[in-house]
Amino acid sequence: MYNIFEKEFAKDTIFLDRNLITPHYTPRELPFREPYIEKISGILSKTLRNEKPDNLFIYGKPGTGKTSVTKHVMQQLLEFAGSKNIPVVGNYVNCRNHNSKYRVLIKIVKDLYQEENFLGFSAAFVYEKLLDFARKGNQLVLVLDEIDKIKDLDELIYGLTRSNDEISNGGISIIGISNNLMFKDRLDPRTKSSLCEQEIVFPPYNAQELTEILVKRSAVAFRDGCVDDSAINLAAAIAAQESGDARTAIMLLLRAGEIADSKGNTRITDDEVKKAKSQVEEEIIFNMISTLPEQQRLVLYSIARLASQKKPMQKITGETEEGILFSGEIYDEYCKIARQFKETSISARWYREYINELEMYGLIVTTTSGKGIRGQTRLIKLACDAGKVKGLIEKELAAAA
Ligand SMILES: Nc1ncnc2c1ncn2[C@@H]1O[C@H](COP(=O)(O)OP(=O)(O)O)[C@@H](O)[C@H]1O
Ligand SMILES: [Mg+2]
Repeated sequence: MYNIFEKEFAKDTIFLDRNLITPHYTPRELPFREPYIEKISGILSKTLRNEKPDNLFIYGKPGTGKTSVTKHVMQQLLEFAGSKNIPVVGNYVNCRNHNSKYRVLIKIVKDLYQEENFLGFSAAFVYEKLLDFARKGNQLVLVLDEIDKIKDLDELIYGLTRSNDEISNGGISIIGISNNLMFKDRLDPRTKSSLCEQEIVFPPYNAQELTEILVKRSAVAFRDGCVDDSAINLAAAIAAQESGDARTAIMLLLRAGEIADSKGNTRITDDEVKKAKSQVEEEIIFNMISTLPEQQRLVLYSIARLASQKKPMQKITGETEEGILFSGEIYDEYCKIARQFKETSISARWYREYINELEMYGLIVTTTSGKGIRGQTRLIKLACDAGKVKGLIEKELAAAA
């Protein structure tokens, strides 16, 4: 009998190992990040002498290697400690999936006490279990990736840092990671001073660095000779120009490879990379939207909703332009939507900050109107497809409800 998978399975592919060219894969070698690896391992090495290391806050734009570098250093630390029988224990939490103090604590104690069940227990109880674990003499290193997603972060950090005073043996330290460059400045001063005892900023990669990363990666992910040098250079150049983001660069080659496969081509050329570009841009934008803080996502949602309804605007010159919005009308719309979702709305000052940040992410562009149209006012335009953005956020809002 013919199996329906037979045909797919027999298809020729230029991938040697597709997994190695997805952003989820953590390579063992991380070129251009040696100084950061050294700095982090220097801080964490205290655990090997049973001393509590400083808490560390790592931030930088998406795709600059924060998660990969941290996972790599943790893996090395645990491997080394294990080989010497030193009680160092690590726990990695993706706060996108565990986005409250309680969820984070539950996730960690579940990993630490795998036979026990903590469902329905109070935060205080779970928290005590965590302290007990450290009290036994363990140095516990908690990695809180995308830490800005935790709603009641101040309470979590306060609880965890205060706990160290209660433990004489062992300790709990935190590595917080964030893609958001402004997050640190928004922290409550007490949380900030606890979390940011040490701080590292990851810079974007330049085109040359991205090229080298891609050359290494494609050598293991694709069959020999299947990727043109110029295609690699192009992918690196696109990613460097947009954001200096290794994830974008890797995604470009992945999608280019899929396009080549689907056409039955045996090589990735510039052409496939160019075709992959718009698809990847869309994926990156959508990924970025899903990582925005709730209120900021509602601001963006307001923009997308207005932009998809609004008639083209008449400019002083007589031309018309589509999708141009006044800052004030967006804020009004936002307040209306926030009420609808029973969220307390942010102040106008915060609103302006969120707008600045959305512009920095490239999701919107803003200009100031010349004198004339209602005095001097800020004009805002969505930089991506309004209907798509609107649809995506609506899907997320529905899922969260
Ligand atoms: N220096 C590097 N060398 C090789 N691959 C890298 C490097 N930096 C990042 N990457 C790759 O880029 C992708 C995104 O990296 P990641 O660590 O998730 O970034 P961040 O956490 O800063 O968003 C991953 O696939 C990772 O393997
Ligand atoms: Mg990350």
